[in-house]
Amino acid sequence: MCGIFGFIPGSNETASDVVDTCIKGLKQLEYRGYDSAGIAGIYKNEMQSCKSVGKIKSLQSAVEFEKLNLDMAIAHTRWATHGGLTNENAHPHFDEKTKLAVVHNGIIENHFELRKKLAAQDIKFYSETDTEVVAKLVSLYYDGDLKAAVQRAAKDIKGSYALALIHQDQPNLIVATARDCPLVLGLDPQTKSIFISSDTNAFLGRSLDVMFVKNEQLACITKHSIILYDAQGNMMDYKLEALGIDLHAITKNGFEHFMLKEIFEQPMTINRTIEGRFSEEFGTAQLGNLAIPTHVFQSAHHILILGCGTSWHAGHIAASMLESLARIPTQAEIASEFRYTNPIVSENTLVIAISQSGETADTLAAVREVQAKGAKVLGICNVKHSTLSRESDSCIYLKAGPEISVCSTKAFTSQLALLSLLTLHLARIRHMEKAQGQEFIRYLKKVPQLIEEVLNQAPKIEKLAKKYAKFEHFFFLGRQYMFPASLEAALKLKEISYLNATGYPAGEMKHGPIALISPDVAVIAMCGNKKTQDKMISNMMEVKSRGGPIMALAPEGNEEIATITEDVIWMPEDICDELACIPYSVAAQLFSYYIAKERNCEIDQPRNLAKSVTVE
Ligand code: AGP
Repeated sequence: MCGIFGFIPGSNETASDVVDTCIKGLKQLEYRGYDSAGIAGIYKNEMQSCKSVGKIKSLQSAVEFEKLNLDMAIAHTRWATHGGLTNENAHPHFDEKTKLAVVHNGIIENHFELRKKLAAQDIKFYSETDTEVVAKLVSLYYDGDLKAAVQRAAKDIKGSYALALIHQDQPNLIVATARDCPLVLGLDPQTKSIFISSDTNAFLGRSLDVMFVKNEQLACITKHSIILYDAQGNMMDYKLEALGIDLHAITKNGFEHFMLKEIFEQPMTINRTIEGRFSEEFGTAQLGNLAIPTHVFQSAHHILILGCGTSWHAGHIAASMLESLARIPTQAEIASEFRYTNPIVSENTLVIAISQSGETADTLAAVREVQAKGAKVLGICNVKHSTLSRESDSCIYLKAGPEISVCSTKAFTSQLALLSLLTLHLARIRHMEKAQGQEFIRYLKKVPQLIEEVLNQAPKIEKLAKKYAKFEHFFFLGRQYMFPASLEAALKLKEISYLNATGYPAGEMKHGPIALISPDVAVIAMCGNKKTQDKMISNMMEVKSRGGPIMALAPEGNEEIATITEDVIWMPEDICDELACIPYSVAAQLFSYYIAKERNCEIDQPRNLAKSVTVE
């Protein structure tokens, strides 16, 4: 995780602009971690730095208090991997004379071994981090040439990194290098300022020419110039591409939290995801020019879906849809586990990798694994220019716009909408009748309006959330498509309210977990599947008989459910089972949001989390 940033000003920028630019850049990277932040740079040939535990705003106060000015700088926002949330563990890390500074995203896997070797040479460590090892190692190899020292250190390092380093004795130089971690350089064509970042979010609102630093490449950045080297140290040609200005303002737009804003955006974001991507006339999806040839889709005997967290939940739902509608055997795998299963991937396996950020290290590692085995990977991604979008063989974008809240909402529903179009596409090129395709499109087109109907119930959902906020334990139950939807609903609640919430297949409760049912455990029953409705009702009765309080999300007017449960959130009824997860998930998102609010939790940036999980 973590976000790294660096800046060498061009013409017309002063030393105070450098600090300001770094703070602004870090704020855009804060979603990658917010345990601590720091900045180091050279001012009048001297190393200067400032660190602070907590979010960027506390670093901002600290640099303002210290009136920090820098001629050029590197900066960092941290998601702790090695060592607690202390100033000592905050980046940048330094050599013993505080002449060299480094910021790092990634994990140095052999840090323990390297630390032992360095300590044996009487080199002292002041933090518990893996990154400090890099500072000490590069410093050991430094003999006046920072680039050469970094290249030599890289040979000793195992693990992943995006690094930016400076040295007081080379005051106009930033060295940046990457292995299995994203790193992008941006050049302002007017001022010639140069930016270094973990992703292009930090360039928001600037029209820069950008370049992604690939594995093992190293860049030497000085005033107005970037020189790129390959893994062998040879100078390389490179091309900068115009990024353009993304004017999509990242503001809360009057909402109290980004999460609430993003929940309410969903009718619009689903529209953007599906717009122009289907043909009613032919009852099929039109997903644009995919770089993966049609015959790969036609001949796929097996689909493998990879993702983590919410993206895995979307994949789980899609796997059922693909099997049921397109009749292709499909498995959705948690990317972090998948790699270690010695997976069977044949040439007839189509791999779909789902990631909102496109930077999730576990998903990327799994993608690289299947690509090495010869499979074609179709990426489903929200963030343009992300690593997944660049590394997959073809990528389809969600078009949901920037998702700022760590807790994913609109990306999830857009993933479901896009995956349902992909299912339609695969079903229609195989056996699905045109009329059935047209019927599916009719339901899909209605989804934004159904979400509106759910959003209109926000005051009622808020009232119920206040009632249920007193519980410490929750079960979210569902069957068929509603099972992964219940996993997602439980994830929402636990990540923003820190409550114990478990998503479970309703029919499986009787095989053990029903022992946990008591008046102190709230059960949220997601009753959105017509096909399994009767069985779901029986499962709710089983919970009720054991004294468990139940709140249901159920189709409008189902009297039987109303008699079993204490509370019901009525859901739109005219929707097919495959797509019902979308409005039901929106209701569950609101429920979790209002519980977290009632419990005064930090909603947009929950403790211990980061939006983009860039370590395995
Ligand atoms: C969702 O609310 C989570 N914060 C998290 O599970 C997330 O979905 C997961 O880390 C995967 O992220 P990605 O979609 O960017 O790959």
